[in-house]
Amino acid sequence: MERRNFLKIMAAGATVVAVNPSLIRGTLYADDGRMYAAYEKVQIVDAAGVPIKASSLEKEVTYIFNYPYAATPCMLINLPESTSQEVELKSEMGETYVWKNGVGKDRTVVAYVAICAHQLTHPTPNDSFIKYVPKSTPTMAYSKSGIIVCSSHLSAYDAAAGAKNLAGAAQQPLAAVVLKVADDDTIWAVGILGADKFQDYFKAFKPEFKEFYGGTAQAKQLVSISAKTVKLTEFSKEVIQY
Ligand code: FES
Repeated sequence: MERRNFLKIMAAGATVVAVNPSLIRGTLYADDGRMYAAYEKVQIVDAAGVPIKASSLEKEVTYIFNYPYAATPCMLINLPESTSQEVELKSEMGETYVWKNGVGKDRTVVAYVAICAHQLTHPTPNDSFIKYVPKSTPTMAYSKSGIIVCSSHLSAYDAAAGAKNLAGAAQQPLAAVVLKVADDDTIWAVGILGADKFQDYFKAFKPEFKEFYGGTAQAKQLVSISAKTVKLTEFSKEVIQY
């Protein structure tokens, strides 16, 4: 992606947000607070800043937005069919949690942190080895498509079931972005469910943060108010999928 497109989705400003334990237990079924972190409620908008409606998302297209930090890429996908519900998942440390379901009219809209749970492969403005693979597209990672594949070492995740592991070296699901869809069909991100790899990620890619965000401190700024999203094919110059 050209730098000007990438800059379109960079977040501005930072807000510190406290975790609300009652929301954790009341809504997300996590055993305890560790598997869910509330962040600022942020609206998903397009590159021009216009709010996106859940029903307007193209089916089976990988969209990228940065949340909850300025440099943590997430995938937004409108799946072809309704998702599973109440999926029990387990982190590599053995902690269990429940991913509730997709959102939107038909429960087809999902979002996950696009940082692979194996070795942190993620989309950059230069390239991406991780994406949703549409049902009609073959993949070497798994016997069926309609899944998320990290082509670095062929880990496969079930996009319709909380990014549950299907194949490959990853030992836990992708962390999920908890979404809400309002009555007017606008989409909001409110928190992260599951074991994220944010701290490892921030330690591992300092030169990248300097190149694209100005430094690690800027990369760690919390996203506030809105998060711009573009298609993965616009975010990354090259998208690789096996
Ligand atoms: S980094 Fe994703 S499978 Fe290895």
